[in-house]
Formats: sequence, structure tokens, C-alpha cells
Amino acid sequence: MSMAAGRPEPRPAPERRRVRIVPGGPMMVEGPVEIVLDDGSTVVSDRFQVALCTCRRSAAYPFCDTSHRRRARRRRPTGEE
Ligand code: FES
Repeated sequence: MSMAAGRPEPRPAPERRRVRIVPGGPMMVEGPVEIVLDDGSTVVSDRFQVALCTCRRSAAYPFCDTSHRRRARRRRPTGEE
């Protein structure tokens, strides 16, 4: 850290990252990113756009694998009882 007149120089403002929330889907984050998980471990991605899972169904958590799209099949009425 450099000092000027005994005080640290202000750091340049970080560039803003755009985060877009997809209704019913992932959170889209401009990469690269470093993600800190709830157990304290970190995962990185150098992709320019990262889809983060918000439903917790992804086998690739914390990344979205589109599992949020899968829904239970509706039963078709058969007319049988
Ligand atoms: S948001 Fe896509 S798998 Fe969870």
C-alpha cells in the first residue's frame, strides 16, 4: 500500500458488475468471478457470463445446469378410477 502524507491513497472505484436475476432461474453475473460458498470454500469461473444457481437443484452447484427447468410431470386425466 502506498502512502501519501501518512494516509493511504484512495483506491480507484471498482468497476461495477452487472447482475441480472432471471425469474424462476439463475442469477446471471458478469465474470470472471470468485464465489465463496457457505462452507467457506471458493469456486472460480473465468467465463464472461456466469449463471449462478438459485434453486439449489443444480448438480453443478453453485453454477446453474438448467435443472430449475425440470418440473414434475402432470398426470393426464385418464378417465379411469
Ligand atoms: S437456477 Fe438453474 S439449476 Fe438452479
